[in-house]
Amino acid sequence: MTPGRHASNVAAMTKLNIEPFNGDFGARVTGTALSGDIDPETLASIRSAFDSYSVLCFPDQDMSDEKQLAFTRLLGAPEAEHVTFGSTGDVTYFGTVGNVEDDGSKRDSGFVGTRYQKGNQLWHSDSSFREVPSAASILHAYEVPGEAGETEFASQRAGYERLPGDLRETIDPLYVVHDYVFSRSQVAPVNPNHAASLPPVMHKLVKENPANGRKNYFVGSHARSIPGWSGIDSRRLLDDLLERAVELAHIHAHNWQVGDTVIWDNRCILHRGTGYDADRWRRRLRQTRVVGDEPGVIPGSVTPPGPGSVTPPPLYREPSA
Ligand SMILES: [Fe+2]
Repeated sequence: MTPGRHASNVAAMTKLNIEPFNGDFGARVTGTALSGDIDPETLASIRSAFDSYSVLCFPDQDMSDEKQLAFTRLLGAPEAEHVTFGSTGDVTYFGTVGNVEDDGSKRDSGFVGTRYQKGNQLWHSDSSFREVPSAASILHAYEVPGEAGETEFASQRAGYERLPGDLRETIDPLYVVHDYVFSRSQVAPVNPNHAASLPPVMHKLVKENPANGRKNYFVGSHARSIPGWSGIDSRRLLDDLLERAVELAHIHAHNWQVGDTVIWDNRCILHRGTGYDADRWRRRLRQTRVVGDEPGVIPGSVTPPGPGSVTPPPLYREPSA
């Protein structure tokens, strides 16, 4: 199914206007106000467009936290924000991206929370390190810098489709370990409670969208190793797959405007922040996430995996020779 043909089908069903970006993925969507009151037909169209285009930008949204959380619940179960939950056990469904605190004060670039967010400048899939990764992230812009601060997106579905056939065959049966502490401790210290809450988790390296059957691989900064492979071979493969997905010609950079709500498919999309001058500008975006439905496996976990989860491969051990 080509994105263009699908666009006209979706548009014919509802008043949604869907304009595909130039490239492998992504679309601008107008004709609806996001909230918890979206009618079922429009919601079905949004879901369908999400499965086809992977990144949807809804400009000029009159958003609030209440509306955003209600819309998030229409898409699935909201995900507890992991930094707060892992550190204190408190559940909140929002994360703030940027340098503005809840009381409106601005933190400069030296603040540890601002430094910590530099991890977002590595290509990643939100929550890929969790036992159940996010299916979707929803990010709304309230304050944006006067310059820079774009979010870049790349598609691991398009990356998979560009792979030579023999490499696809190599990676199809593999698994990959995602590890938050591996990735984020390279950027800033990870709170010990937080680290303990996020043991490494194993996922299938190649996933398939259940709605349209299109495949993608699942890497990014949290992807640490391939079970059964040496560290060097793991890194060669994972770095190669990442580089192929994020080739310059295949990146979409979103230049945020106040009022933009952007939704992306963490199952197949990588993204990263590009940085901005936090001493000069205010930036405040509010994020919610939708829990996915593909549990991974935490090695050594006593909890039996749920339906549809991956089965640990026999290679999950040190090679004997
Ligand atoms: Fe992110």
